[in-house]
Amino acid sequence: MEVQIRDIDKSNWLACTQLEVSEEQKKTFPCPVVYWIAESKVDPSFAPMAIYDGDLLVGFLVYGLDPDEAEYWLIALLIDRKYQRRGYGRAAIKELIRHLGEQHQCEKLVLGHRADNRAAEALYTSIGFEKIAETNQEVIRSLVF
Ligand SMILES: CC(C)(COP(=O)(O)OP(=O)(O)OC[C@H]1O[C@@H](n2cnc3c(N)ncnc32)[C@H](O)[C@@H]1OP(=O)(O)O)[C@@H](O)C(=O)NCCC(=O)NCCS
Repeated sequence: MEVQIRDIDKSNWLACTQLEVSEEQKKTFPCPVVYWIAESKVDPSFAPMAIYDGDLLVGFLVYGLDPDEAEYWLIALLIDRKYQRRGYGRAAIKELIRHLGEQHQCEKLVLGHRADNRAAEALYTSIGFEKIAETNQEVIRSLVF
């Protein structure tokens, strides 16, 4: 496995919009990739990235800087339904952490997930993200690296 995160550009944006989660997962993760690409177009603090294993497109993520707190957030992460449970989600987060450290001298990543999203909870806690807040619907976690 050789997981990389790459910018979205003219060559891969359309393929990214074809990435899909399962019908069950849409209940806790309803926004499609095309939505995130659209929001990134109008919000310059959003950075959308494609997740590859070599030349194979397997997923998509968005990270962004919260200007008020000067913190980077993982705003969205998905691995296509066909490629889940192969370690890509975990590898993509590790790649993002490396990218943030190298490109942005960042040492902390914050994220939120729906409280009932058990796969997200298991993934993030297995990497070491700790719960820092909880609202009605969302658990907020952070990792210092
Ligand atoms: C969450 C998601 C990104 C995980 O991606 P993935 O590539 O399947 O995850 P990995 O194979 O790297 O798994 C890493 C760990 O996550 C956990 N995990 C992943 N999928 C899981 C599932 N369906 N149920 C329970 N735990 C799960 C496990 O702890 C796993 O470790 P293990 O395989 O050693 O047991 C993927 O399920 C997904 O795209 N879901 C829909 C979108 C979503 O919910 N995104 C996160 C919201 S913020």
